Amino acid sequence: MVIRKRNDMTQYASANDVKESALQKEYMKKAASYVTGLEAQLGRKPLCCVTTFGCQMNARDSEKLLGILTQIGYVPTDCEEEADFVIYNTCTVRDNANQRVYGRLGFLNSLKKKKPHMRIALCGCMMQEHAVIEKIKNSYRFVDLIFGTHNIYKFAQLLVTMFENHEMIIDIWEKTDQIVEDLPVSRKYPYKSGINIMFGCNNFCSYCIVPYVRGRERSREPGDILGEIERLVDDGVVEVMLLGQNVNSYGRNLPQPMTFAQLLREVEQIEGLRRIRFMTSHPKDLSDELIEVMQQSDKICRHLHLPVQAGSNRILQAMNRRYTKEQYLSLVDKIKTAMPDIAITTDIIVGFPGETLADVEETIDVVRKVQYDNAFTFIYSKRTGTPAAAMTNQVPDELVKEGFDKLLKVVQDTARERAALLQGKVMEALVEGVNEQDASYLTGRLTNNMLVHFPAEQRLIGQFVNVSLDVCHGFYYTGHVVC
Ligand code: 5AD
Ligand code: SF4
Repeated sequence: MVIRKRNDMTQYASANDVKESALQKEYMKKAASYVTGLEAQLGRKPLCCVTTFGCQMNARDSEKLLGILTQIGYVPTDCEEEADFVIYNTCTVRDNANQRVYGRLGFLNSLKKKKPHMRIALCGCMMQEHAVIEKIKNSYRFVDLIFGTHNIYKFAQLLVTMFENHEMIIDIWEKTDQIVEDLPVSRKYPYKSGINIMFGCNNFCSYCIVPYVRGRERSREPGDILGEIERLVDDGVVEVMLLGQNVNSYGRNLPQPMTFAQLLREVEQIEGLRRIRFMTSHPKDLSDELIEVMQQSDKICRHLHLPVQAGSNRILQAMNRRYTKEQYLSLVDKIKTAMPDIAITTDIIVGFPGETLADVEETIDVVRKVQYDNAFTFIYSKRTGTPAAAMTNQVPDELVKEGFDKLLKVVQDTARERAALLQGKVMEALVEGVNEQDASYLTGRLTNNMLVHFPAEQRLIGQFVNVSLDVCHGFYYTGHVVC
């Protein structure tokens, strides 16, 4: 298979995509002139704040938003109160994410009353829902710009429209086929980066809103992905996280199809890249080829996020997950046999319609058997428009809570036991930054995705060090650097 590399990339990129990226660069220039005008009016550089809700895909999108904002002259700040432009990149996977956005919008309104030149924008998954747009139009009229997940690449153009108008701009698309490459990105970390390898999802798990708000699965061309990683590595990145809702189905819809395992083989060969991570893997699509590539790799981290969602076959079927508890467990066996030191983490939902305490026991049984290194446990949230929302057997809150508490205890106990196994070992960590509680400590990430805190000098940030994991504190370690 011929992989298109950086240098010959543009010749393969669709003419439309190239034209679109050139067009957006023109809009960036125009937007920059409005920001210069604002700077003259304020007598200082205007500040922007990008606030991210939700998953790693959103975090990556936020880096793209910030890339454009800094390119046109805004200076980034983490403080919404001092910002002249605030954008919320929203999530709608569970209702509590939506409620947080509404709550914080009230606060932004009070800021804007004091600073009438302030501009407020909303984007991301939540904006793809009609009911949300109606609510914002009616109750949050101070918002200046709203767009969705499919036209984020038009951000510069939308900003120009916003600067040239004084009413609310709303631009939501139902879908897109386009993947526009080559727009600016402002990375949060100099040494590690997320990379989108695909967008959207085709799985339609019955509880999940993602396929409705992110659209159908679209894979990026391997040459574009490899080219982006090579450029990042040239720029100091040593660890990448390949991102997709279901990375295991990567490449199926490409003109020249390829598998995710084949893509990983190519990424592995990039010189200077030290670590490769990826998420998320759907168990039904995880191939033997992928296990083999992981096993043979020196760079792919010993961590697999493998959402199980539930342990009861009846519930798994109603969730449309397309595997049984037995199939999941035998997959985990296969993975652990190939890589005994691998850390496995998962997502679990409690309270799916019709779920009984006996069903939750099945989930607990999976947790005990797999011995997850970590599990994200969620209470089922009813998402309008999904098949599960129309199911009549919704579970009462008290019952959900009872099952959730029982599950959480087992999850925490097993994760603690797993973490304790590594106490006293020396492992390589990528130093990510200064410890949030104690500035004389740094924080590093191990191959299994666990964190270790240790006293060291800040010049080590971004480098690999060997750390002795002296004390296990359940979900993290404290230790010291070993030369
Ligand atoms: N309610 C609760 N959790 C959900 N997730 C997705 N949709 C819902 C929902 N409606 C969880 C799944 C998924 C993770 C990203 O969010 O566990 O793996
Ligand atoms: Fe949602 Fe299922 Fe797609 Fe994951 S695989 S994004 S849970 S529909």
